[in-house]
Amino acid sequence: MRYVIVVVGLIAVAVLAGMWQLSMQSTPANTVYGKAAIGGDFSLTDQHGEAFTQDNLKGHYSLLYFGFTHCPDICPTGLSTITNAMDELGTQADALTPIFVTVDPERDTQEVMAEYVANFHPRLVGLTGTAEQVKTIADAYKVYYSKSEQEGSAMGYTVDHSGYMYLMGKDGEYVAHFPHDISAKDLTAQLKQLIKP
Ligand code: NI
Repeated sequence: MRYVIVVVGLIAVAVLAGMWQLSMQSTPANTVYGKAAIGGDFSLTDQHGEAFTQDNLKGHYSLLYFGFTHCPDICPTGLSTITNAMDELGTQADALTPIFVTVDPERDTQEVMAEYVANFHPRLVGLTGTAEQVKTIADAYKVYYSKSEQEGSAMGYTVDHSGYMYLMGKDGEYVAHFPHDISAKDLTAQLKQLIKP
């Protein structure tokens, strides 16, 4: 009887250790959010005035980046990094659609977005919408943004926002994310590994 209790106890310890290991594996240190937590339905308008929804992410990889056209340095730097990575990827870039989503729909109209994205990669998609539509996609991608008034500034106001790039797979599901200040070299290297034919 005592032997049975010891065996059962050992099995219980082994099972618990196994579960602990699994739970550790599912949360790698460099991942901020769970896999299922990023992404979801949205409905926006691209720089040509065409409807653009979650379904438009399917069939190819997408790299989504959130910001606003009045952003003085962080957004343009991130978009330049994406543009450089697209160029470095060569033919592999054909499988990737870079997308810039505004968090300032008040000023970033379709026309403003069209003019802005043309400064970067020719395949860069610019998305805008109503304040509510932008809120929906920002919530889905866990993007923080907040309007803040700047006293005496000619720009009127700025928008504080989080700056991650999100790689979504061919099924439109989350694959990985990168910080806005990643170098073009590092972004290219990561995308080369993650983008499968
Ligand atoms: Ni910005």
